[in-house]
Amino acid sequence: MKHRDIVPRLLAWFAQNARDLPWRRTRDPYAIWVSEVMLQQTQVKTVLPYWERWMRALPNLAALAKAKPQTLHKLWEGLGYYTRVRNLQRAAQLILAQPGGRFPHDFENVLALPGVGRYTAGAICSIAFNEPRPILDGNVIRVLTRSHGIAGDPRERSVNARLWQLAEELVVQAAETAPLKPPSLHASRITHHASRPCAQFNESLMELGALVCTPRQPRCEACPIVKYCVAHQEDRVHELPGLSRPTRVTPRRFIAFVAEKGGRFLVRQRPAGVVNAHLWEFPNLELAPDDSDLKRAACGVLGVRPETLELLGTIKHSITRYRITLEAYRATSRQ
Ligand code: ADE
Repeated sequence: MKHRDIVPRLLAWFAQNARDLPWRRTRDPYAIWVSEVMLQQTQVKTVLPYWERWMRALPNLAALAKAKPQTLHKLWEGLGYYTRVRNLQRAAQLILAQPGGRFPHDFENVLALPGVGRYTAGAICSIAFNEPRPILDGNVIRVLTRSHGIAGDPRERSVNARLWQLAEELVVQAAETAPLKPPSLHASRITHHASRPCAQFNESLMELGALVCTPRQPRCEACPIVKYCVAHQEDRVHELPGLSRPTRVTPRRFIAFVAEKGGRFLVRQRPAGVVNAHLWEFPNLELAPDDSDLKRAACGVLGVRPETLELLGTIKHSITRYRITLEAYRATSRQ
């Protein structure tokens, strides 16, 4: 398969099928940077309201650089991975301390910002500046390993290097590609993309991975490059990408205590240097799987032995390899 076969088809498909995401309506590198950092570990539908709120509250670098930590925490609350927001502010302060104080326009300086890795720098420079910089995230890995029939673990060095190389060749090809068809009515809705092939091409890879070339039930019948797809031809779509060792899932059990007195609730702030540092939370602790002495555990974090503990609910959620079960108890005491 030739790069020049698939690149124009992906561009044409994107012009017709791109979701109208708010960060696609701007070319402001600050706004695109914020969206990419939010999207690093978080799904599009979760990010949407956070990004809108952030851009209203902190519309530019100067506003971010001087925002209070509480404001930042509030704007980020629920997105998780809080180092991201601290890096955003540190980066804004570093940029403003430079002569000129503008968002960097060259790849190396974008890459040097705290919290910006190769993927995010590539996304910012291609989307905001239409530079031919490659991107490689989970969605893009799926599209490229399947379309090109690339076996092996994409996290493994040589496979990863091959994928970055391929992503680069493709976006360079996009820079040299004229659109397959004149822009359609739909494409005119995103007019500013019309002459931005590198931006559009990289976004087409992300979009195809998110909408069509999905992990479990890919919609190959809707794929613009299915006739070139090696995995489809060889019936290997479900084998790729070849993520080898399945991650070891670890169950963890936490209990949290809701202690109220006169309409006021007992909360505490997490210390510096731990995960989710500085966030406020109900007193809680991690239990050994077989620990059943909840009153003793409560006493440890509340400072008093509770009179009663009433189960309010159980919440299950997963983060990285941890499967967390959190039991929340209302705690009452006589004091
Ligand atoms: N995931 C990461 N970056 C994205 C973007 N710009 N649009 C949609 N999904 C994304």
